[in-house]
Amino acid sequence: MSPSATENNSGDKFYQNLEELATLKPVSKSILLDREEYQLKWLKYLPAPARTRFEKAGIELSKGYPVIPDPKSIPRFINEAYEIRNEVFPYIERAIKADPHKRALLSAAKEVQHLTKHLGTEIIGLQLADLDDNQRDELALLVAERVVVFFRGQDLSPQKQLELGKYWGQIERHPQARYVPLPDQSYDDKLQGSGITVIWRKFLNDLNDRKQDFRKEIKNTVFHTDLVHEKQPAGITHLHNDTIPENGGDTIWSSGYAAYDKLSLAFQTFLDGKTAIYRSAHPYLDRDDPLKGPVYIEREHPIIRTHPATGWKSLFVNRAMTTKIVGLEPTESRIVLEYLFGIFEKNLDIQVRFRWQPSKEGFGTSAIWDNRISQHYAVGDYDQDNDDRHGTRVSSLAEVPYFDPSSISQRESLGI
Ligand SMILES: [Fe+2]
Repeated sequence: MSPSATENNSGDKFYQNLEELATLKPVSKSILLDREEYQLKWLKYLPAPARTRFEKAGIELSKGYPVIPDPKSIPRFINEAYEIRNEVFPYIERAIKADPHKRALLSAAKEVQHLTKHLGTEIIGLQLADLDDNQRDELALLVAERVVVFFRGQDLSPQKQLELGKYWGQIERHPQARYVPLPDQSYDDKLQGSGITVIWRKFLNDLNDRKQDFRKEIKNTVFHTDLVHEKQPAGITHLHNDTIPENGGDTIWSSGYAAYDKLSLAFQTFLDGKTAIYRSAHPYLDRDDPLKGPVYIEREHPIIRTHPATGWKSLFVNRAMTTKIVGLEPTESRIVLEYLFGIFEKNLDIQVRFRWQPSKEGFGTSAIWDNRISQHYAVGDYDQDNDDRHGTRVSSLAEVPYFDPSSISQRESLGI
């Protein structure tokens, strides 16, 4: 090759790289921000009910809110992202040792309302902050059976929410998520954050330079399950909303137990024991080929998983993050997955829709659900750029997903 040809080639490559670089977005706008200035700006918009709750709990807000993680410690490359929680850690299933009748929990409540026959329960007249360990075990079992349990009118500090979450499993601390600051907490580089993440669409839209678009689908408005790319994906997630718009902003849950029971015996048998690939919501870059564009953390889990407490089988796929069934041809996998996603999405008889409703200032509503056996959908039918819907979320990671061939389905177990 002549020297001039080499020069031309590298010149072409240079401009090609430059063009590709120009199309790449930084991992987040936070790279370009003066974070403290931005946090202080958004603290001013903190809705009054949230502010009352935080002040009562002694949350230190002098550096603004919510805390945006230092972009220097957010993994940019996929190999670094894989290192997070790549080792198996111990998990204790609290629901296993609970009283099957849940007497301590249910007798302390003023009222227990099942919202549908097999999915969704509201407990009235009980404060989550006051539960003892027996009641926490029983609540974990109730969630395992009913998929999602609601508590309104809760006086719940973020610290107490975190404590509850820690009781149910290792807390997921997300390197990219905005969080509630806690006093005297030290964070290592890659797992920073308090573990109490902030759900506040108005803020997030601004951070991501995004506006609500009625015609466009956004990530949280498709049915999904949280954190399925983890080696030990999320078990219980607890979302506490302290600020709710006057109307709109409901959440829908769909049952994985019931989705499995919707399948014919022949199709259940076909899926039992099969695995699929599950990917992360957040993108990273390939260190060896950064211009390739976004790549995701991927892990393999069983499509049908057994819940360790109920022993029931659940269909564990979701449109947002299950990419292919291992062992099938790509077309077969696509068609089968599309059918399975549709079971969660189209069957209204396996769903429950919850209206949060505003609480007294400083009080909020909690939804506690099990990601191992459900999908959820946040309905974006409020003015997301102007109406406030603010909450704090804590996710407890559970076991390495497994399929027990001797386990049975919910309806089989209930004799239906
Ligand atoms: Fe979610």
